[in-house]
Amino acid sequence: MNAIEAMDLTRNFNGLCAVDKISFVVEPGEIFGFLGPNGAGKTTTIKMLTGQLRPTSGKAQVVGCDVVEERQELKPQIGVVFEYQNVYERLSARDNLVFYARLYGVDKMRVDRVLTQVGLTGRERDKIKTYSNGMKQRLLIARGLLHEPKVLFLDEPTRGLDPGVARDIRAIIAELAQEGVTVFLTTHYMEEADRLSDRVAIIDQGHIVALDTPEGLKKQQGDGQSITLEDVFIKLTGRSLYRGS
Ligand SMILES: Nc1ncnc2c1ncn2[C@@H]1O[C@H](COP(=O)(O)OP(=O)(O)OP(=O)(O)O)[C@@H](O)[C@H]1O
Ligand SMILES: [Mg+2]
Repeated sequence: MNAIEAMDLTRNFNGLCAVDKISFVVEPGEIFGFLGPNGAGKTTTIKMLTGQLRPTSGKAQVVGCDVVEERQELKPQIGVVFEYQNVYERLSARDNLVFYARLYGVDKMRVDRVLTQVGLTGRERDKIKTYSNGMKQRLLIARGLLHEPKVLFLDEPTRGLDPGVARDIRAIIAELAQEGVTVFLTTHYMEEADRLSDRVAIIDQGHIVALDTPEGLKKQQGDGQSITLEDVFIKLTGRSLYRGS
């Protein structure tokens, strides 16, 4: 069974086609980089794949569950790390996680495990309102991992973090994949995508314009020259403001 399957997945917003008939498959244990310019349709795709937003047309399955019809079966099997939200600032990281463990019906033992996994041990009893961005991001990942999801969706997990914390978070992601978790990752950091991803899809204006391993993309787009994933990205999605195209 594939971890993720999207078939002609589409989402319109009042006449704007944010995601336009995209199709792809992600295999179990894979880190799948989902790259694209601002407004390309990445978050919209994640919202559809995680049952938060209904597709206008097309279909998707995650861990074999239809994202519309089998939403309830799907939820316990996936983890989602989005923007900073639904965090109780006046509680500690530990109490936030204990709260969610109860909500999900997860053994409280998991709380210590995920705190260690994301490197929050030592600060777990401090209130969230005293946390830095990097610590908050670690907490969000910990929360996403509490119920041991088979597939983890990470929407820009290292945005705005310092290089050291970003590196730690990349190490956590790589470790999860080693343990067999499938990771669907969006990022604007091309080096990060290159280093972490088994395969990368590039989405532009709702269309997937390339899908391959990072090496494959560089080779294919480089035309004999040695180029970076950033070069590939710009080549496939770059539009000049001046030319207006
Ligand atoms: N709820 C909404 N209502 C109307 N339009 C929306 C809504 N959500 C997204 N869009 C539009 O859909 C398009 C894709 O947005 P989306 O958030 O998926 O982009 P993205 O690839 O995640 O971009 P970014 O890199 O900036 O996060 C954009 O044009 C956006 O304005
Ligand atoms: Mg987004």
